[in-house]
Amino acid sequence: MAGTGLADWGTPMTQLASTMKTLQTPPFDVLRAREDFPILKTMAHGKPLVFLDSAASAQKPRQVIEAVAHVYEAEYANVHRGVYELSEKTTATFENSREKVRAFLNARENREIIFVRGATEGINLVAQTYGRRFLKEGDEIILSVLEHHSNIVPWQMLRDMTGVVLRVVPVNEAGEIEVEAYEKLLNTRTRLVAMTQISNAIGTITPIQKIIRLAHEKGIPVLVDGCQAVPHQKVDVQALDCDFYVFSGHKLYGPSGIGVLYGKAEHLEAMPPYQGGGDMIRSVTFEKTDYGPLPHKFEAGTPHIAGAIGLSAAIDYVEALGLSAIKAHEQSLLHYATERLSTIEGLRIIGTAAEKSSILSFTLAAAHPHDMGTILDGDGIAIRTGHHCAQPLMDRFGVPATARASFGLYNTTKDADALVAGLHKVLEMFG
Ligand SMILES: Cc1ncc(COP(=O)(O)O)c(C=O)c1O
Repeated sequence: MAGTGLADWGTPMTQLASTMKTLQTPPFDVLRAREDFPILKTMAHGKPLVFLDSAASAQKPRQVIEAVAHVYEAEYANVHRGVYELSEKTTATFENSREKVRAFLNARENREIIFVRGATEGINLVAQTYGRRFLKEGDEIILSVLEHHSNIVPWQMLRDMTGVVLRVVPVNEAGEIEVEAYEKLLNTRTRLVAMTQISNAIGTITPIQKIIRLAHEKGIPVLVDGCQAVPHQKVDVQALDCDFYVFSGHKLYGPSGIGVLYGKAEHLEAMPPYQGGGDMIRSVTFEKTDYGPLPHKFEAGTPHIAGAIGLSAAIDYVEALGLSAIKAHEQSLLHYATERLSTIEGLRIIGTAAEKSSILSFTLAAAHPHDMGTILDGDGIAIRTGHHCAQPLMDRFGVPATARASFGLYNTTKDADALVAGLHKVLEMFG
């Protein structure tokens, strides 16, 4: 059937190709994945743990735990310093982790990947180096009302030092970025946009690609807080064309105390160092110091060696499962849980954006979030309650706090059912 685009049995070739692609991607086996997480077999208050707080910090698979243990058991020495075999081996594994992160984010070069303690440190680094070098009184930085305090306070500190002005993009009732308002805020004084890709408090996925494009049309650089994005979807910093991107390892099933700042090399080259110390220098005399090249210029002192190697193992882990499979699984859980929660009397979901990550924030008319959290905890169910380090967003919705259930790759509909049963118990006690 040459030229018709049909195979002999009449299936269009394009359809066949897509079917084969689907067949190559095995369905996500959540029960199998759960086996990788030893902590999910533990009990809380004598009940099986139902962990619904992955947005705060995700649990660790055995592959990550073993990678970290292996460093300390068999391959540990300081990096970039020793001429002996063990140090050289550790240095190679540490630098391979940088390469792993580069490929994970699809950055152009390894030197664009800076290891930091976490997203918080990454944002502070940009505020204190890029901000202090290039921004001055009257210059404007655009944030959104969705931001985590980590993407607010560093800019306020910069404001107090330099006199820059912070402008805030509002969200609508659903918790979606008001793009028109954002466009109006962009002006000739705007020097930087710093925005989250996904809200940790209410799950909104922001139109970050459009946010970046609109800023770039006016020559304004953009920092993206990708903390809540990297565990749930594929991120490509070249496709996004963002200028800076930050995330934390511990939310990506990796160790805590390690995170990443990606920056375009041209920006990082132009920025002064953040901290001074060992490993970031070319030469030091009492008169003067020449700083080392990227990325080391921004990595003063002994880094979190095992953390970086553990992060690399976490990346291997999520990539082996497949980020698109993880996303599909979590999205179906989000929809299931949203439907089930919506039937609960007096429950208000805060954040109903059309594009949402697997985060469900809610209030109950009958009980304060902390009371909900305490009662659920008694049944082994771990949720987060409070302002989620996003007080301006809580103010926007007129609530002091919410209860938040966040789903990771290991959560199941059974976990969502346990949450719903727990909330009925809350209603019985407070109703
Ligand atoms: C969106 C977002 N940004 C920044 C942070 C800060 O991350 P870390 O405390 O790991 O530095 C978090 C943590 O909850 C977050 O969710």
